[in-house]
Amino acid sequence: MKSYTYIFASIILLIAFVSSCKNPNPQPELVTGPYAHQVDSVMALMTLEEKIGQMTLFTTDWGSTGPTIREGFEEDIRKGRCGALFNSHTVAFTRHLQEIAIKESRLGIPLIFGYDVIHGYKTIFPIPLAESCSWDLAAMENTASIAAREAAAAGLHWTFAPMVDITRDPRWGRVMEGAGEDTYLGSLIAAARVKGFQGSNFDNADKVMACVKHFAGYGAPVAGREYNTVDMSERMFRDIYLPPYLAAVKAGAMTVMTSFNDLDGVPSTGNRWLLDEVLRKENHFTGFVVTDYTSINEMVNHGYAVDEAQAGEEAANAGVDMDMQGAVYQQFLKNSIDSGRVALEVIDLAVRRILTTKFQLGLFKDPYRFCNEQREKETVFAAAHLEAARDMARKSIVLLKNEKNILPLTSKKTIALIGPLAADGTQLIGAWSGAGEGDKCVSVFTAFKERSAKDGFTLLHAKGAEISGDDKKGFSEALSAARKSDIVIAVVGESKEMSGEASARADIGLPGVQQALVEALVATGKPVVVVLMNGRPLALPWIAEHANAIVEAWWSGTEGGHAIADILFGDYNPSAKLTMTFPRVMGQVPIFYNQKNTGRPYDPTTKWNTRYIDLPNSPQYPFGYGLSYTTFAYDSLVVTTPQPPSKGEYLFARKDTIQASVKITNTGTRSGEEIVQLYVRDVVGSVTRPVKELKGYEKIKLEPGESKNVVFHITSDQLRFYTVDMIYKAEPGTFWIMVGPDAERLQKKVVRLVE
Ligand code: BGC
Repeated sequence: MKSYTYIFASIILLIAFVSSCKNPNPQPELVTGPYAHQVDSVMALMTLEEKIGQMTLFTTDWGSTGPTIREGFEEDIRKGRCGALFNSHTVAFTRHLQEIAIKESRLGIPLIFGYDVIHGYKTIFPIPLAESCSWDLAAMENTASIAAREAAAAGLHWTFAPMVDITRDPRWGRVMEGAGEDTYLGSLIAAARVKGFQGSNFDNADKVMACVKHFAGYGAPVAGREYNTVDMSERMFRDIYLPPYLAAVKAGAMTVMTSFNDLDGVPSTGNRWLLDEVLRKENHFTGFVVTDYTSINEMVNHGYAVDEAQAGEEAANAGVDMDMQGAVYQQFLKNSIDSGRVALEVIDLAVRRILTTKFQLGLFKDPYRFCNEQREKETVFAAAHLEAARDMARKSIVLLKNEKNILPLTSKKTIALIGPLAADGTQLIGAWSGAGEGDKCVSVFTAFKERSAKDGFTLLHAKGAEISGDDKKGFSEALSAARKSDIVIAVVGESKEMSGEASARADIGLPGVQQALVEALVATGKPVVVVLMNGRPLALPWIAEHANAIVEAWWSGTEGGHAIADILFGDYNPSAKLTMTFPRVMGQVPIFYNQKNTGRPYDPTTKWNTRYIDLPNSPQYPFGYGLSYTTFAYDSLVVTTPQPPSKGEYLFARKDTIQASVKITNTGTRSGEEIVQLYVRDVVGSVTRPVKELKGYEKIKLEPGESKNVVFHITSDQLRFYTVDMIYKAEPGTFWIMVGPDAERLQKKVVRLVE
């Protein structure tokens, strides 16, 4: 043991010496980057096996997010056969494992600890899809930074987030983990989350490395089925799916995770074009690339490699630096190098990238700098974090319907709170909540009970039904409570296991007998408010028509119950808007706002066009939609360009800026926030273009009677796309500039880009 400590001390001395020398031979990339000499000094001591060890990531037995669990990872650490671990957290546990690496491995190279801190570590925030509905970048950056603070205080260095996959199919369970269907908004949110997780440095050990995932195109599996094939044109990939990953990289994401899927026939984990060309050469990513859980091994099932050894070679040669849980590099990479199928330089570069992050994290200076029990105790579940969770949840809840202003609840004497999710706080943390504790969540029932004494109303409660199953025995109790009440609040939806990874649903209605329960409640004649808890857009046409009000609460986190009550009782005026389209029925899926016009655009009055014969094309609720307890009036849209208009079109050149402005007035009686949205349509292109694309938005707050002029500035750069020649540029021609409260209610003006 002593000799190991001696070697670790020698590394530190060597690093200190080398850091003070000038580099005589500058070389490309990381060799000249930050910590290059320190990294060199460590690498000089490493055997090939130890290098491969740095490229190996294992889960501990504290939890698994995939099909297999390896045993004996402590022995791997001791032998220098693994450089990072995941699913291990808390100061006590990470310190224990770090001690093995530092004191018992030959070189004492510190471990990195990673974890899926997706929407909070202990204090759980709303699911990312919910947060995205706030359109509030500062708030999302803040929740990511709190998540990082708690995670770092618990010994973690690395989160496998943000997930930035664009998603257009609500059957896919992982839509809950992203920011919805839009590329522009998704890119802004990706960057905000990276900044929140990583901040600008690790000086205070209160930030974690971000890992943008799943690179790439994982959000477009055929039929919404988990892990399924992804196939799309390169143009669609570059225009729609790629930008959020690049935005995250540009914001400084230090790591990238490959996706499980193949893309145009090549699995992402062995995709040289994706990793080497697009990510590294075109977009200058210098951090390290990690696989998803055993995704190297899965290239055999994909039919892309004959065996795991070849899969490992494909991955290494494509630019995958770290093997998550597959043990392929550990088992086969040395042989691949010895036989010349993988060059030693490939390994050296990967190890350089990984060691560089360990230096950036400060782990070579102090491997235990994230291990402080006192700080951990004070940080997780801090009061300020819970307050932020409540605030973020309020900002994320979307009011979908509010007939005759039945909400907010005022002067109601008796309220019946019904439904399987009304009192079940444990569900509020939602999927991908890692170390989150469901029993710490405030349920809607608890929040209502707290208010009932204070606000002087009688609260009746009945579960009515389970989330799943066909048992209707609880209906009679629920209906009798409903009949005794002035208003019914039905809290229904999905269980948290119904979304997230490996949780695709073929039917996106309410599970079990919940729909029947809501129908029975409506049949009592009492006003019914439906509160939805779910991880994806649901198709609920009957409820959309018959409920008096609908509140989309999503999985709203530790403080969810309080936030929902704040909305229902009007302490907070809802301001969120959908970032994923809600279909009327499953048959419309995939459904998204930025579709193409087609050669036979939709016309419900004739037959031979792009339509269903049994349903309108329009969704139940469009992208960008959400109500408030107040109302907003939009004056006429005014567009100006520096050049004089001609034949009703406003002309502009590439260097010009178009100004689009509209005056918004709060015409109701409450103060409220409105998300004003700007869309653009490129009418004719060298390839067909979407009927509209979000290009800007502003969230404004207005007091009753107050007005504000919202001004958007549009340049030709914002009109770029991949042309027929795959050149990223704006083409001259006519554009529609559209502004409105959602993707459907838009006013338009016509402008023309002239050369
Ligand atoms: C998921 C990733 C996750 C990883 C580690 C995989 O199954 O696809 O998103 O980060 O497990 O938990």
